[in-house]
Amino acid sequence: MKIGIPKEVYPGECRVAATPDTAKRLQKLGFEVLIEAGAGKAANFSDAAYAQASCELVADPLTLWSESDVMIKVRPPMLHPELDKPEVFLLREGGTLISFVYPAQNHELLEDLADRKATVLAMDAVPRITRAQKMDALSSMANIAGYRAVIEAASHFDRFFPGQITAAGKVPPAKVLVIGAGVAGLAAIGAAKNLGAIVRAFDTRPVVKEQVESMGAEFLMLDFKEDGTGQGGYAKVMSEEFIQAEMALFAEQAKEVDIIITTALIPGVKAPLLITREMVESMKEGSVVVDMAAEQGGNCEVTKPQEVYRYNGVTIVGLTDLPSRMAQQASQLYGTNLCHLLDELGGNENFKIDFENEVVRGATVLRNGEVTWPPPKPQPAPQPAQSATPQPVAPPAPPKPEPIATTHPAAHAKHKDKSHHRSHKDLVWLMLAGVALIGIGIGAPPSFLSHLTVFVLAIFVGWQVIWNVTPSLHTPLMSVTNAISGIIIVGGILQLSGAPFSATAILGAIAILIGTINISGGFLVTQRMLKMFQK
Ligand code: NAI
Repeated sequence: MKIGIPKEVYPGECRVAATPDTAKRLQKLGFEVLIEAGAGKAANFSDAAYAQASCELVADPLTLWSESDVMIKVRPPMLHPELDKPEVFLLREGGTLISFVYPAQNHELLEDLADRKATVLAMDAVPRITRAQKMDALSSMANIAGYRAVIEAASHFDRFFPGQITAAGKVPPAKVLVIGAGVAGLAAIGAAKNLGAIVRAFDTRPVVKEQVESMGAEFLMLDFKEDGTGQGGYAKVMSEEFIQAEMALFAEQAKEVDIIITTALIPGVKAPLLITREMVESMKEGSVVVDMAAEQGGNCEVTKPQEVYRYNGVTIVGLTDLPSRMAQQASQLYGTNLCHLLDELGGNENFKIDFENEVVRGATVLRNGEVTWPPPKPQPAPQPAQSATPQPVAPPAPPKPEPIATTHPAAHAKHKDKSHHRSHKDLVWLMLAGVALIGIGIGAPPSFLSHLTVFVLAIFVGWQVIWNVTPSLHTPLMSVTNAISGIIIVGGILQLSGAPFSATAILGAIAILIGTINISGGFLVTQRMLKMFQK
């Protein structure tokens, strides 16, 4: 299959959907890579670099779009300014497109793509579940944006971030307030902290307190009992009283801090207004406000989207293209997210839009011209015993568009059918197990029976205990299982002391082998996890 990468036509967009490095990865997945000449120029990737990475350079966008089976891009398709033709009509009929789409906001685009019988995967609709993290382009872009917000703030702030004692006098450290500690907020906290500022942060979800503090920032507490945690770990709309209390806190902070970075957002609704004109007026001259929610209406009353200007001596940054300002880095991360998604789709050999795969299902907004967005809500766990498995998280709850026909009813019916079938099977197994147990009870010696009872109980209790541990406690759980494996190995060694080829000795040897695998595996996994946190 041929993958096509066009030059982005959105004004000022510098990112590109593949870098020479990610293009090579795409080829490793078996795809042929076609790229429009000059597509990577704004992100500092020359045509020569792509040619060296064995990409085929195509000068004419019309040829590129019509020859590619799968188009990958950054921005949603729009009017091509040079060809004066919507990009949607450049897509081959029945072709596949993978890019940011924002289906909730772009009804018409979805309809146009449906007319082209297109299959479309929206990078912004990849479900935010653990398994899909490597494909989560929203997070990789927010991470870059959070970092860049601090860099923008620093470039408009004419003082040091870290405190200094010099021969010429003492310099106090800059004070930074970050509002909203999601992906972007946490990245901003990290960057400001690394530059040496005193960082404070606030969020409506108390669960982020630990994350904020682990990065060395102070979490501002509000004496108000209301948890902002909404569905799937996202924020929910807060009560009027809470917002008032929170704003009173910010009013106090505004007088004290030098830089405010706001990232507060609730998916699918307008950003809450948290920094008023009066608060900005109360800030020290030379201070900076970076409003990252500018595109969603802004968290600050005086923000002008896409603009940087001075208001009453305070620089207000309302830039909405922060990731594009670090286009090389952003393209590399976005391109990697795309590679992982294309791998998830089966690569070149087994390319398939598989709706059994929850990541693919979540991201697919159109399949062969049929609108499949929004995806069905994840099914609630049928039994409490399954609650410890990470549940799929709904994508950012988008406002529902009316005219969309979804595949829900069929999917539901299928699911019902399946679980019905499963319960029959379970019953048969249970009955077989019962008969086997009765057989053993009649035939086996009493000493064996008591051992069997302990064995069955151990399996049952062990299963229940481990299955019900929340994922956040899996690391301590691993230590406990390692300790248990240690006991098993000692038991196994004791059994080995008897006759060498007796059943007991063989079982003992197997126990030692499995216990050792468990312990060394535990250490290996722990080591890999620790590496993730090492710089
Ligand atoms: P997110 O949804 O992960 O985080 C938003 C955070 O704001 C959440 O932690 C939420 O609890 C918090 N929040 C919501 N209401 C609040 C309130 N009233 N007070 C305090 N905190 C509140 O979103 P993410 O991915 O971190 O993005 C943050 C913002 O940055 C969004 O507005 C996003 O659109 C924007 N963004 C801007 C870019 C730019 O170029 N300007 C690029 C990427 C993201």
